[in-house]
Amino acid sequence: MDQLKDSSAWLDHFRRNRVNRAEPDWGRATPFPPAVTAPLARSLAHFALGESCEGTTLLAGTRRHWPDDPDYIAAMTLFIAEEREHARLLEHLVIRFGGTLVTTHWTDRCFTMARHVLGLRFEILTVVVAELVGGAYFQLLRSTGDPVVRQVCELMVRDETQHRRFHVDRVVVAQLHWSPLRRALWTAGFQLLLRAALLAAWLDHRPALLAVGISRRLFTAEAKAEARRWRLRRRALRRSGRLDGATPAGWRTARSRHAGCTR
Ligand SMILES: [Fe+2]
Ligand SMILES: [Fe+2]
Repeated sequence: MDQLKDSSAWLDHFRRNRVNRAEPDWGRATPFPPAVTAPLARSLAHFALGESCEGTTLLAGTRRHWPDDPDYIAAMTLFIAEEREHARLLEHLVIRFGGTLVTTHWTDRCFTMARHVLGLRFEILTVVVAELVGGAYFQLLRSTGDPVVRQVCELMVRDETQHRRFHVDRVVVAQLHWSPLRRALWTAGFQLLLRAALLAAWLDHRPALLAVGISRRLFTAEAKAEARRWRLRRRALRRSGRLDGATPAGWRTARSRHAGCTR
């Protein structure tokens, strides 16, 4: 069974994941016709914008709430750098499809505003929801027939799987001593946000998804299945953490100083 990883283990993971990354075969022609590449380029440009976030608020909040956990702060810094690497990959795809990069979009503005207004606890929640929705998109997109898209999606799906685990570990540790009611309220907020994010993602990416044969039902089902796996992992880790006192040593001090900060 999976165990909670402590901050130094996550820092090692992000350091190792930076090396030996295969570069996609950018020179390969796409088999997609313009009717597919045009909406796909627009959709990928929006994802690239979201992934290019500098994470200033997230990092500042992490430093503020977990000042005695330098490995977690360093791991969070590398996590943000990995998301920016995703932005680079997606920007390549947009250009390969003859699209235009964007510097602003309503979904990104909503996402950024919600994260900044509601604090670090909510920011991690929104990052997790974005990982789940983005994960479903790239998971489905990788099987649509363009080998370079597949290469990019495989890199991203591999990274994003670990991102979700990185966040679940922190959420579990922060919530170990929460009451069942407080956790239930958190879960209700998570479900609500997931629904809102799925609706926004569908409105934004519908033309691209339909162009590559991905229906709303398939997209929603994939994201919900991923969310369910995430929640089951959270529950299993919480139980194991309670049973054997497995809270990673590096997190104990931070948790006791900032009990209740899931953030
Ligand atoms: Fe990403
Ligand atoms: Fe991610």
